Amino acid sequence: MSIELTAIARNFRLEGQVEEVKPLGEGFINDTFIIKTVGDSPNYILQRKNKNIFSPIPAMMDNIQKVCLHIKKKVEQAGGDPLREAMTIIPANDGKLYFLDEEDEYWAVCLFINDTIAYDAAETPELAYAGGKGIGKFQSLVADLNEPLVNILPGFHDIRYRFKQWDAVLSKDPVGRKAQVAEEIAWIEDRKEEMLNFWKMVEDGIIPTRISHNDTKINNILFDKKGDVLCVIDLDTVLSSTVLNDFGDAMRFYTNTGLEDDENLDNVSMNLEIYKAFAKGYLEEAGSFLTEKELEYLAFSAKYITYEQVLRFLMDYIDGDNYYKTKSPEHNLIRTRAQYKLLQSMEEQYGQMQQAITEFAG
Ligand SMILES: Nc1ncnc2c1ncn2[C@@H]1O[C@H](COP(=O)(O)OP(=O)(O)OP(=O)(O)O)[C@@H](O)[C@H]1O
Ligand SMILES: [Mg+2]
Repeated sequence: MSIELTAIARNFRLEGQVEEVKPLGEGFINDTFIIKTVGDSPNYILQRKNKNIFSPIPAMMDNIQKVCLHIKKKVEQAGGDPLREAMTIIPANDGKLYFLDEEDEYWAVCLFINDTIAYDAAETPELAYAGGKGIGKFQSLVADLNEPLVNILPGFHDIRYRFKQWDAVLSKDPVGRKAQVAEEIAWIEDRKEEMLNFWKMVEDGIIPTRISHNDTKINNILFDKKGDVLCVIDLDTVLSSTVLNDFGDAMRFYTNTGLEDDENLDNVSMNLEIYKAFAKGYLEEAGSFLTEKELEYLAFSAKYITYEQVLRFLMDYIDGDNYYKTKSPEHNLIRTRAQYKLLQSMEEQYGQMQQAITEFAG
């Protein structure tokens, strides 16, 4: 394996001699390796990109490069270090941003950023604040990048598209589960108009289209040794969309006091303290470029993304569990109920969520 990986690595414009190529972490999406070089030469990250999720990969790499080059320019203008505060994509020997191997697998390389701190989870308000700052900073660095990106994830967070799938699944009812989940279906139908109204503002440009990150987990933010945000990584999912989706998605998983598939609904609620900490960090960075409309709907985006997830779990249950991996026949239903509990908790605390935005955007 390592000999093959070394051979893959040789297809890129690396400085120095490759010493070894070793797996790094257990990424869910891509296979990630570190390329260690001899002596003082830089180390690199090598990734086999997941072509089942992202397609086409060359367009994805073009998107990433656009974003990286823009951030580098901004970092340089601010007197920062573009090799540490931005990702550096290393091209293949033929100049392409990827290498396609004999098995049709796509590989990409970027510079390894040394001396950083990464966190696996943001369970304290301090870390939620840092996570908010990271995403806000990323968004603000690309807020003036006006070129649209290629949409490599069609329909992403697009509730109108989800409702098309939803209507098709419900009318087919392929495994006869619909009748048992009438109550859960009503949860979706009761809020349909509210959610479509929000998305219509995105479609009509009332809520602007910008560049969003779309994978706001805290382990995608590298911090320096002082604890300050250094660089946001894992740019596979960058899209031209509303940046509110990043805030909403982060709040869906940062604030949940339970598990996404918690069977004990008493465990599940939205932790307002975590919400506020993230919102504070986020708005310190993003407050300067967000429009009034975006600020008005920031808190709503947490409900929107959580609602979308309730819909997707329930739809997959009715469809016979084709999309999400399940551990039991009821797993998608358990997830539906747990995410719905989170949505309800957000609805109960919505006034305070809105108030926090007004306060921090001040
Ligand atoms: N340029 C880099 N410099 C230093 N470390 C990096 C760099 N790129 C990635 N890493 C490390 O490798 C990990 C996995 O990288 P990345 O997030 O790009 O992969 P992934 O497959 O999307 O993983 P996941 O599913 O966990 O998000 C990161 O969380 C980080 O710790
Ligand atoms: Mg990642």
